[in-house]
Amino acid sequence: MPFSEDFINELTSRSDIVDVVSSYVPLTKRSGVNLFGLCPFHGEKTPSFAVNPERQIYHCFGCGKGGGVIGFIMEIENLSYPDAVRFLAKRAGLEVPDDGYDPNQGKRSRMLSLNREAARFFHAQLLADTGRAGQAYVEKRGIVRMVKPFGLGLAPDSWQSLTDAMTAKGYTRQELIESGLARVGKNGGLYDYFRNRLMFPVIDVRGSVIGFSGRILSDAEPKYLNSPDTLVYSKSRSLFALNLAKKSKSGYILLAEGNIDVVSLHQAGFDSAVASLGTSLTAEQARLLARYTEQVIIAYDADAAGRKAAQRAIGLLQPLDLKIKVLEIPGAKDPDEFIQANGPQAFRDLIERSGGQVEYRLAQIAADYDLAADEGRLGYLKAAAKLIASLPGSVEREIYGIRAAEKAGVSKDAFLTEVARVRRQNTAAAKRQLRRDAAPLRAAQPMDRALRYDNVRSAVAEEGVLNLLCRFPEQFGDLPLTGADFTSPALGRLFDAVYARASQGRGVTLDVLGQDFAPEELTLLAGILQRDTVSAPAARQAMDDYINKIRAEKERSSRGEDLRGYAEKLKRTKGYGS
Ligand code: UTP
Ligand code: MN
Repeated sequence: MPFSEDFINELTSRSDIVDVVSSYVPLTKRSGVNLFGLCPFHGEKTPSFAVNPERQIYHCFGCGKGGGVIGFIMEIENLSYPDAVRFLAKRAGLEVPDDGYDPNQGKRSRMLSLNREAARFFHAQLLADTGRAGQAYVEKRGIVRMVKPFGLGLAPDSWQSLTDAMTAKGYTRQELIESGLARVGKNGGLYDYFRNRLMFPVIDVRGSVIGFSGRILSDAEPKYLNSPDTLVYSKSRSLFALNLAKKSKSGYILLAEGNIDVVSLHQAGFDSAVASLGTSLTAEQARLLARYTEQVIIAYDADAAGRKAAQRAIGLLQPLDLKIKVLEIPGAKDPDEFIQANGPQAFRDLIERSGGQVEYRLAQIAADYDLAADEGRLGYLKAAAKLIASLPGSVEREIYGIRAAEKAGVSKDAFLTEVARVRRQNTAAAKRQLRRDAAPLRAAQPMDRALRYDNVRSAVAEEGVLNLLCRFPEQFGDLPLTGADFTSPALGRLFDAVYARASQGRGVTLDVLGQDFAPEELTLLAGILQRDTVSAPAARQAMDDYINKIRAEKERSSRGEDLRGYAEKLKRTKGYGS
């Protein structure tokens, strides 16, 4: 076991799950002991993500995800157990004992240092006399001042310059391939992946170079090349220039589509521009943004693809309670072109004049209908009412409602009545959904297919045993049961682990179990713990009932086997007879 149990207990006692979760998810509702918020792991409009401060667990009644505080960090930060422990330790100001090691740690830090060396190499190439082509390109694009802060570089127009330089520094063939910087050619030799390109290092918020994006200097294809995902780089979880944007005092983050847009925006003084490289915005990137800002201004390309991407981004950002603005960039293809043509002040005006997301979406809806025709007006009214009904504030609904009504040429009252109708419908649907989500709690099959129960009747009782054992360990030091009696192997293993601790008078948390069990198994246990079966005085009786049930089921199924065996024998004898 890499971390001592004492250390994990110390760590979790200093990492209250409510505090930790709250820094990602506003917990806005209370019901019983649970605090509720919108689940960060699946899209939802009504909160079904529960945090139980008493048991220090989280559990989503919607998607079923659950675990302890360490599990939560693993999930939301996409970290391994040891890395999640280190992450929380840093947050709690605790020193991690030496014995906590990560088998990939060595490889990962080698890759990071290779990336850093490569970034240095590219940068030096751009500044060198031989880097004229790169320098000319940077000048042409008007981003000379950004070469330093972004660490821009030049991948020379040759097959092996980086590979040779890195090999000379002691990096192996394997390391170069795994980092995505070199590939294997037909002759078995290595060649540089990035050639004749302006290089943009991707630097994470901790300042590590995790990958690269390169723009071709000529007009060859592809225009941009990005590092593949590696041990240290996940495209869907990183944002280009967030390392710089996070320091901005602007109060918002500008989300652009392209690398050059970002650099060009920074050069023009908009120091909070970022972009997702080689992917459209992902849910993980949206959460990453939410961690660094309260307002996102979308500055995507002005074409149809950009508009579509903006709609998508809104859908991902809105559930995170972010203020969203969408820039419309007139007369230019993208922010870079606009700034080159009109200068920074004009772009600042765009930001100031741009409407919020509601205006933007209302305008989009209006564009979809022919407002000169009755039918078009009706369609607009319905779609607009649906949008406005989803706004949380009544004042907001009133203001936009009036605006939309004017546009559609209907009375304000008629419009607001429609909005109220949609809202009633939504509330009813949300309630139904919540009931559906909460109902199959008992005897539900585990989320993970591999953990499916063969005997649900027994599994219900097995879950009951685990629930009581975890909640009242002091009452159950002496159970006539082992994990081998369980029909579900996962529940059986969990039982053995929990019981061993309980009988030594040790408490059990999901976080301690995290070292020995897979996240899916802990999700299962979190769901079980989340149920309030009985209170302490009745626990003993309930435990006996569960144990009897498990016994009875075992009996039944072995009788079943006997019967089957008997039937087989009968068949055989019959066959013999005829
Ligand atoms: P664009 O084609 O809009 O390029 O791609 P751009 O940003 O305007 O670049 P310039 O001004 O011509 O230099 C937008 C973004 O999509 C990704 C890149 O991140 C690019 O910045 N992309 C584009 C790729 O990953 N690969 C490609 O081949 C093209
Ligand atoms: Mn461009």
